[in-house]
Amino acid sequence: MSSSVIETKKLTKTFNGRIHAVQDLSISIEEGEIYGFLGPNGAGKTTTIKMLATLLDPTSGSARVNGFDVVKQPSKVRESIGIVFQEPSSDELLTGYENLRLSALMYDLPASEIESRIDGSLELVELNDRRNDLVKTYSGGMRRRLEIARGLLHRPRILFLDEPTLGLDPRGRETMWRYVERLTEELRMTILLTTHYMEEADSLADRICIIDKGKSVAIDTPARLKRKVGGDLVTIVADSPRIAEIRRLKSVRKIEQKDGTFVITMDNAAAHLQDLLKRVGKVDSVEVRSPTLDDVFIKHTGRGLEQAEGGWFEKMVQNTTNKE
Ligand SMILES: Nc1ncnc2c1ncn2[C@@H]1O[C@H](COP(=O)(O)OP(=O)(O)O)[C@@H](O)[C@H]1O
Ligand SMILES: [Mg+2]
Repeated sequence: MSSSVIETKKLTKTFNGRIHAVQDLSISIEEGEIYGFLGPNGAGKTTTIKMLATLLDPTSGSARVNGFDVVKQPSKVRESIGIVFQEPSSDELLTGYENLRLSALMYDLPASEIESRIDGSLELVELNDRRNDLVKTYSGGMRRRLEIARGLLHRPRILFLDEPTLGLDPRGRETMWRYVERLTEELRMTILLTTHYMEEADSLADRICIIDKGKSVAIDTPARLKRKVGGDLVTIVADSPRIAEIRRLKSVRKIEQKDGTFVITMDNAAAHLQDLLKRVGKVDSVEVRSPTLDDVFIKHTGRGLEQAEGGWFEKMVQNTTNKE
C-alpha cells in the first residue's frame, strides 16, 4: 500500500459534452504534503478540487481521498476534508466567533467540544484578539484566515485551498503562506492548493502539478522543475554580438533573439559569464537570472503564465458559469 492520501486515475470532467475542463489527470499526493496546482485561469483547477470534494461527479476516471472513493463513498470523503473556496462565505454582519459557531453547528460537532475547537482554530490563524469584531471590519487577509479557521473546525486530515491569496496584496499573501505552512507543521495536514501565482507555488508547495487546458503537463518539486529548464538565463542587449563564437562556448545551450535582445541559456552563469561577454562586444545591458516557474510553464506550453490568462471574454464567461 502506498501512503497516498489523494490519488486520482485519469480523472476527467467534461461539461456539456464539449468543454474539456479536466482531462486524464493522474496524481498522487502523500500525507503531510503541500501540493500545488499551478495554472492559468480556466486550466481546470477549481473543477479538480470540486471533484475531489464530491461537489462534482467525474465524467470518467476515479479518485480516492483519504482512501475513500469520491463517487462511492462521498460522505466518508467529506468527513476527511476541509475546503476553502475562492469566494468568501462568511457573514460580514456577524463576528468572527459567531461565524465559526454557526459552522460548528452545521458540522454537527459535539457540543462539549465546540468552544475549544473554535478557540483552537482562531488561535491557529491568529484571529483570537479579533474574534468579537464584526467580519466587515476585517481586512481581506483576515477574512481569508477566518475561512481557513472555518475549514479546520472539524479537524480534517486534508484541506483544499482554492486560490487562497487571490486578490491579497503581497504582504497579505506572505502572511497567508506562513499560516498554511503552520497547518502542515502543527497539525500534519495534507494540503492541496491551487494558484495562478508562480511565486506562491514556488514558495509554498512541496510538489507542483502544472496544469494547462485541463491537462497536467509537469509534476515535480519546484526546484527540480526549474532545474529541468536547464541552466541560467542571461539576457543581453547588444548591437552585434558574435553569435557564431558564442554558440561555440561549451556552457551555452541555447540562444534566442528578438530585436537586439538575446536570451542565452547557459550552465553556471557565475563561472562562465566573462567568457560570454568577451564574445559579445559592446554591451548595453546584461541580466542574469535563474529559471522561474514561468520559464517552466513556457517550456511545457510554449507561452507564459501571464499570456496564458484568458481574455476578458473568457473570464466573463467563466464568472457566469462558475456561479452554479
Ligand atoms: N459549471 C460549468 N459549466 C461549464 N463549464 C465550466 C463549468 N465550470 C467550469 N467550466 C469551464 O471549465 C474550464 C475549467 O474551469 P475551472 O476549473 O474553473 O478553471 P480554474 O479554476 O483553473 O480557473 C473553464 O473553461 C471553465 O469555463
Ligand atoms: Mg478556479
